[in-house]
Amino acid sequence: MSGDTRKATEGLSHPPHLPHLSYLSGFGNEHSSEAVPGALPEGRNSPQRAPLGLYAEQLSGTAFTEPRAHNRRSWLYRIRPSAAHPAFTRVDNGALRTAPFTESVPDPNRLRWNPLPVPPAGTDFLAGLWTLGGNGDAAQRTGMAVHLYHANASMERVFGDSDGELLIVPEHGGLLLRTEFGLLRAEPGHIALVPRGVRFRVELLDEEARGYVCENYGAPFRLPDLGPIGANGLANARDFQAPVAAYEDVEGEVEVVNKFCGNLWSATYAHSPLDVVAWHGNHVPYVYDLRRFNVIGTISYDHPDPSIFTVLTSPSDTPGLAGIDFVVFAPRWLVGEDTFRPPYFHRNVMSEYMGLIEGAYDAKAEGFVPGGGSLHNMMSAHGPDRETFDRASAAELRPQKVDDGLAFMFETRWPVTLTPQAAGAEHLQRRYDDVWQGLERHFRPLR
Ligand SMILES: [Fe+2]
Repeated sequence: MSGDTRKATEGLSHPPHLPHLSYLSGFGNEHSSEAVPGALPEGRNSPQRAPLGLYAEQLSGTAFTEPRAHNRRSWLYRIRPSAAHPAFTRVDNGALRTAPFTESVPDPNRLRWNPLPVPPAGTDFLAGLWTLGGNGDAAQRTGMAVHLYHANASMERVFGDSDGELLIVPEHGGLLLRTEFGLLRAEPGHIALVPRGVRFRVELLDEEARGYVCENYGAPFRLPDLGPIGANGLANARDFQAPVAAYEDVEGEVEVVNKFCGNLWSATYAHSPLDVVAWHGNHVPYVYDLRRFNVIGTISYDHPDPSIFTVLTSPSDTPGLAGIDFVVFAPRWLVGEDTFRPPYFHRNVMSEYMGLIEGAYDAKAEGFVPGGGSLHNMMSAHGPDRETFDRASAAELRPQKVDDGLAFMFETRWPVTLTPQAAGAEHLQRRYDDVWQGLERHFRPLR
C-alpha cells in the first residue's frame, strides 16, 4: 500500500509549483493507495461502515465475469458516491464525433494532414478535441476513433468518457491530469491512458497543448504477448506508472461532462467528483514514457514487421487480430546487412493512422510533420517516398542510429472512415500522392 497525504488542492494550480509526483509502478497491478492514513478498509471491499466516513464504490472496466487475467475493476473510497448527481442534459458536441462514422464514404486514398489550426483563446482540452475518423460502433463496444487536440486553456470542468478509454499522446505542451485516482503528468514523449468512465480534468503545463488521442471502444489496452522474445522486452510492465491517491474536497458548483454513445451530456454537481481519498484495483489511469520502450530489430538482415514495435494492444475476438495496436517508432540502431533499411513498401490488411511527436520519420523525407498525421487505409499502397528510396538504396550500410524522431501508429483492424471535417479540412494536404511520383523505372532484363 502506498500512502500519500497530500491533497490535490494544495498548491498545485500553477505549473511552477507542481511538485514531483509520486507514482505506483507496474502495468495491470492490483495497486492500492490512500491519501489519508486509514482510509482504505482492511480485508474487505465494502465494510458496513467504510473508514473515515467515506463511501465505498466499485468501478468496473470489464464485465464482472470476464476471465481473471483480463478483469479490470477498482474500488474507490470517496467523500460522496458518484450516484449523488443531478440529471445530465445534452450539450454541444463541438468537433467531437463517434462511431459509427456514416457521414462520408470510406476513402481508399492515402491521406495526410498538417497540424490542427490554432483554436480560439479559452479552448480547453475537451473543447479542443477534433475527430479525424474511426471505425466500429461505440455502442457495440467495438472499434476506435482518432482525435487530435489543440488547447490553450486548462479545464475547469471534469470529463468522463463512457464510450471508451482514452490513449492520449502529447506532441506539444505538457499536461497535468487530475483524475479520480490522483495526478498524472504527461509530457511530449509520454502517453497517458484514462480508462473508460474515469473522471478527470486536464490542466496545461504550458501555454498551449497539442497532441493525439485514440479513443478505444473495445477491450482495454494490454501489453502484447512476447512469444519467442521471452519474458522481457518491448514495453516493460514496471515502467507503467499509476497515480497515488489525491483528492479534492471542494463544495461548490462543478460542471461534469459525460460522453455517452457519441454525445456530450453535462450536469452541475454541488461538489467535485475528484473526491476519492483512497482506492485499490487494476482499472486505473497510467502514464508511460515512450523512451523507455525496448526496441527490438534485426541484427542480421531484413527487418521485422512493425508489429515488433507494439506498445499496447486491444485484442479483438480473433486471436492475433487486434482491434487496435499502438505502435511506436522510437530511436534505434539500424545494422541490417544487404537490407533496405527504411520501412519497406507494403499493402496492409490493417489500417494505419500515423502521427509524429518530434523530429522526422525515416520513411518520409518531408511533409510529415510533428502534430500532423497520415492515414493509409486497408490495402492502400505506401512506403518510402522517392527521396528516401533513392537515398536508402545507395547508402553505405554502416551501423546507423536513427535518433531524430518519435513517430507512432494507431493500427486498426477496420478501415478508418473520415469525418466530413477531416475529409474537407483546410489542413488536408492535397498532393500527398506526389511523394510516390517519380519513382523511376530501374528494371533491366538480362539479355
Ligand atoms: Fe504502413
